[in-house]
Amino acid sequence: MAHLSASVYTSHVPAIGAALDLGKSAEPYWQPLFKGYEYSKQWMKDNTPDVVFLVYNDHATAFSLDIIPTFAIGCAAEFQPADEGWGPRPVPKVIGHPELASHIAHSVIQQDFDLTIVNKMDVDHGLTVPLSLMCGQPTAWPCTVIPFAVNVVQYPVPSGKRCFQLGQAIGRAIESFDQPLNVQIWGTGGMSHQLQGPRAGLINKEFDARFMDLLIKDPEAAAAIPHIDYVRDAGSEGIELVMWLIARGAMADVNGGAKAELMHRFYHVPASNTAVGHAILKNG
Ligand code: DHB
Ligand code: FE
Repeated sequence: MAHLSASVYTSHVPAIGAALDLGKSAEPYWQPLFKGYEYSKQWMKDNTPDVVFLVYNDHATAFSLDIIPTFAIGCAAEFQPADEGWGPRPVPKVIGHPELASHIAHSVIQQDFDLTIVNKMDVDHGLTVPLSLMCGQPTAWPCTVIPFAVNVVQYPVPSGKRCFQLGQAIGRAIESFDQPLNVQIWGTGGMSHQLQGPRAGLINKEFDARFMDLLIKDPEAAAAIPHIDYVRDAGSEGIELVMWLIARGAMADVNGGAKAELMHRFYHVPASNTAVGHAILKNG
C-alpha cells in the first residue's frame, strides 16, 4: 500500500523564485532565507518520495473569475510552469501521477468532499517556488507531483476546519492506494501578509509564531481558528495558511496513529511583503 511518510509546510513568495532564477540567492537580503532551507534540501535528498501531494493556491493564473473551484485536483500526466507576466520560470515541467490522483479523487469524493477534476492546467509560483526551495535547481524534479489547488483568492474561501477535515480524507485516500508508493504532502502559502489596501505590508510575527506552535502541537486548535481571525490578525493574504491545515490533517497522529516528529522549523522576516515560515513533520 502507499504510505504517507511526512508533511512539509512552506511559504511560496514569488520573489524567492525570481531570486533563484536570477542567481541572487547569495546576496545579503536572500542569504539568511536560503540558509533556512539547507537542512530541508538535504532532508529531501535523503528522503525523496515517489510522489508529493502539493497543496497550493493558484493566483488567478490557471483559473480566472470565469470559474472558481474551491478544491481542484490535478490528474494530468504533466503540468507546465505558468507564464505569470515575465515568461514561464526556467524550472522543469512537473510530472504528475494520474493513477494516484484519480484514486484520491475517487476516494475523497466518496468521503463527501466535492473536488474539481483538472486534466489540463499550468502551475504558478504557488507550486513551483516550494519545489525550488525544497529541491534546489535540478534539471528534472526528483519526484512526481499531484497539484491540489485551493481557492484562497476569491471569496468565499474554505474554512480552516473544512481544510483540516479534507486533509484527513486525503490521508485515508493515500493510505488506501494499492501500490507501494512513498508519498509526502506539502501545505504551502502564508504566512501573515497583505498585498493590497491601507494595511499592505502587514506582517504579524506573534500570530505566525502562535500558528506554527499550534499547527505542530495542537492542530485541532489551529483548525478551529475562524476565518475572521486570519483576516484581522494575519492580513487578507494570511488566509493562505488554511492550506497548511490540509497537509496537517493528513498526518497519522490526528487520525489515531503515532506522534509526528518535528524535523525542522524555520521562520524569517522579511521576504518581499511577508514572513517566510517552514516546517517538516515526519510520521512516526
Ligand atoms: C507575495 C506573497 C505571496 O504569497 C504571493 O502569492 C504574491 C506575493 C509577496 O510577499 O510579495
Ligand atoms: Fe500567495
